Amino acid sequence: MSKSHAMKVAIFASGNGSNFEAIVESVKAGKVEAEIVLLVCDRPDACVLDRAQRLGVSAITCHPQDFESKKAYEKEVLEHLYAGSVELIILAGYMRIVGQTLLAAYTNKIMNIHPSLLPLYPGRHGIQDALEDGATETGVTVHLVDEGIDTGPILAQRKIPIEAGDTLESLESKIHAIEHDVFPEAIQMYIEKLKKENTQYETRTD
Ligand code: GRF
Repeated sequence: MSKSHAMKVAIFASGNGSNFEAIVESVKAGKVEAEIVLLVCDRPDACVLDRAQRLGVSAITCHPQDFESKKAYEKEVLEHLYAGSVELIILAGYMRIVGQTLLAAYTNKIMNIHPSLLPLYPGRHGIQDALEDGATETGVTVHLVDEGIDTGPILAQRKIPIEAGDTLESLESKIHAIEHDVFPEAIQMYIEKLKKENTQYETRTD
C-alpha cells in the first residue's frame, strides 16, 4: 500500500443510505482518500440501491434468506470483497450483526456508525432509547466492529443536546446531519492511521 494509493472500501447498507451518499460525496470532494468499490446491500427494496445507481457506485444485493447459514451468506459476500480487493468495510445503516466469517477476514477493518454516545443506548433504537430515558444529551459514535452489538473500540464521538421540544423526528434529523460530517471525517482519520501503520511495517528492517 503506497502513500498515493486510495484505500479500496466497500460500504454495507440496508436502508435509506443518507450516510452512504455523504461518504461517496466526501470521496468525490477529495475529503476521504478512498475508492468506493462496492455497495453491499442485504435488502432488494432498499433506497440506498437507487442512490448507488445515481452516484455510479457498483452494488450487489445479497439476500441472507437465500443462504443456508450466515456463514454461507458471508462467504458469498467475501468473494465479492476479494474480487474488488476491498481493504476496509464501512457499515452505514447495515441492520445485521456481522458474523465470524467477515470479522475474521477483516479484523479491525470494519467501521460502524451508531446514533448514540456509546456505550449508552446500543442496539436498534439508540435515538428513541435516549429520548425515552429523559437524557439531556445524545450524539453519534463511530467505532470498530467486534463480535458484540455496538461494543467495539470507539474512534470518534460527537454530542448534541436533547432539547425540551425534541421529538423522535426532530432528534433523528439532527443526528443524521451530524453523522454526515462525523462519519467521513472519522473514516479519513482511520484510513490515515492504517496507511501509517502499513508504511511503518513496510519500512521496518529488523
Ligand atoms: C444511521 O442513523 C446510523 O447511525 C445507523 O443507521 C442509520 C442509517 O441511516 N447505524 P442512513 O440509511 O444512512 O440514512
